[in-house]
Amino acid sequence: MNEILRKKRLAQGITLFEVKNELIAAKAKPGQFVIIRLKEKSERIPLTLQDFNPEKGVINIVFQVVGKSTKELDQLNEGDKIKDIAGPLGRPTEIENFGTVICVGGGVGTPEIYPVARGLKNSGNYVISIIGARSKEFMIMEEEMKAVSDELHITTDDGSYGKKGFVTDALKELINNNKKIDRVFAVGPVVMMQAVSETTRPYKIKTLVSLNPIMLDGTGMCGVCRVEIGGKTKFACVDGPEFDGHLVNYELLSKRLNTYLKEEKEAVELFEKTCKEGCNG
Ligand SMILES: Cc1cc2nc3c(=O)[nH]c(=O)nc-3n(C[C@H](O)[C@H](O)[C@H](O)COP(=O)(O)OP(=O)(O)OC[C@H]3O[C@@H](n4cnc5c(N)ncnc54)[C@H](O)[C@@H]3O)c2cc1C
Ligand code: FES
Repeated sequence: MNEILRKKRLAQGITLFEVKNELIAAKAKPGQFVIIRLKEKSERIPLTLQDFNPEKGVINIVFQVVGKSTKELDQLNEGDKIKDIAGPLGRPTEIENFGTVICVGGGVGTPEIYPVARGLKNSGNYVISIIGARSKEFMIMEEEMKAVSDELHITTDDGSYGKKGFVTDALKELINNNKKIDRVFAVGPVVMMQAVSETTRPYKIKTLVSLNPIMLDGTGMCGVCRVEIGGKTKFACVDGPEFDGHLVNYELLSKRLNTYLKEEKEAVELFEKTCKEGCNG
């Protein structure tokens, strides 16, 4: 259980792990996540399920190296074991035949939107996907997204691949082409999800975003993951992580995500000084 069967570098600082876990693979649904701990006293890391295969008993996670715990996670290799994985957590994405849907993935949000796009495609929707990255070298999961989409649009901030611009530019173009869009799903950085929501708001297109506040227990007990939705407090781990993008208080979410910047920087510095290699052994 929890053995890493495959490690694949998708782009610089972005890694995919295929992990053995029959119990989670049997129950997982699109939009759900897991919380992992590398060792007994490690920090908990919430990560969305990029894929799951009940027949093989495996789950996939894709993570971006941003701080101490993800650096440490990235040091694991095929054959290593993750101490524990809790999940599947969170409410699954509501998937039915809505008609025409747009799935927007930005950066490491693309692997997160992939099972949602696949579920929507399998339910008979016409799936238009838009995936974006900073530049060509950070574009990930293109083939996988193509396989589950009727249309795939690609943007890069610097124009090195696909269309130059943001995912919201492609989204605006699609909406202005008078195509009737029944629902939009977006996963990515907070600023991107906010921009997607502002793009669809005037057109009253229902927009679901997957929020990523700091989480601790993942079971609704600690309150760390609280977010404000339509003026009401919700816990992203049990009430979400998906919410109506037009109701999210994005300023509060960003502020709360930045609460521990000083401590996070110190943790990375200490880690780099003391555990550059082999700290998981
Ligand atoms: C439901 C959910 C699903 C997620 N799915 C993915 C995913 O599929 N791929 C991926 O790369 N990242 C995902 N994240 C974000 C990921 O959990 C954080 O990047 C990771 O915990 C950072 O840990 P760190 O020690 O490496 O970085 P730190 O230096 O500790 O933190 C860097 C930044 O990450 C965020 N962060 C820190 N601790 C947590 C925490 N416990 N929970 C959430 N955010 C935190 C904060 O914004 C912080 O400023 C998800 C977060 C949530 C809540
Ligand atoms: S993480 Fe503790 S209540 Fe959600």
